Amino acid sequence: MGLVIVLNKGRILAESLPLLAKCGIEPSENPNESRKLIFGTTTGEHQLIITRSADVPTYVEHGVADIGITGKDTILEYGSNLDFYELLDLHIGKCRMMTAGPVGVEEPEGVLRVASKFVNIARNYYHSRCRQVSLIKMSGAIEIAPMLGLADCIVDIVDTGNTLKANGLEARETICDISTRVIANRASMKTKYDAVEKFVADLRDVVQA
Ligand code: PRP
Repeated sequence: MGLVIVLNKGRILAESLPLLAKCGIEPSENPNESRKLIFGTTTGEHQLIITRSADVPTYVEHGVADIGITGKDTILEYGSNLDFYELLDLHIGKCRMMTAGPVGVEEPEGVLRVASKFVNIARNYYHSRCRQVSLIKMSGAIEIAPMLGLADCIVDIVDTGNTLKANGLEARETICDISTRVIANRASMKTKYDAVEKFVADLRDVVQA
C-alpha cells in the first residue's frame, strides 16, 4: 500500500534522500531541480511531499501524510500533546538545542529577554528552571538579536558553533540533543500497518548498517 511521506527542505532532505534511496524509494524527479512540491517515486506507490520543517508534524497529525521525516527540534516545538508516533531516530542531522549569549557578559537578574525561533522549547526550558523570561519570536538570524539589543540571550540550534562565534556569542547550557526522526500518523499505523512497518524496518536496517 502506498505511503505519503513528508520531509522538510534543506539539510534533512539532503541527508534523508540517500537513506530512502537505499530502501528503494527515490523521487521520480530531482527535488532540487524542480519547483514541484509533491513527487511520485520509483516504487510506483509511495509519494514524497517536500515542505517547510514546521509543517511536517501538521501534515502527519492531520493524516495528509502517513509518515514524516523531520528534526527533533521541530517535533518538540510543535507541542507535547501530539497525535502522532515517533518511530525511529535516523541519527543524522545531529546538533544541540542550546542557550547562548554575548561572550563574557553575565545574564541580567530579573526577567530575561530570550530571542528564538523555538519559543515553546525555550519557554519549557526556562519554566523548568523557574526563570522568568520574555520571549521574542524570530524566524531567522537569531544570533544578531543580542548584538542589536533586542534580547539578552538566544535559544537556537548549535552544530559546529561557528555561527555563534561569528556573532560574538558563546554557548551556555544544552537544552537537548537533536537528530532527525521518523514520525507516523496514528490512523496510518492501523490502516497501513504493514506498509509503515516495512518502511520503518527497511530504514532501520539502512541506519544500522
Ligand atoms: C542553524 C541555526 C544556526 C546554525 C548553527 O541554522 O539556526 O544558525 O544552523 O550551525 P553552526 O553551529 O554549525 O554554525 P540553519 O543553517 O539550519 O538555517 P536556519 O537559520 O534557516 O534554521
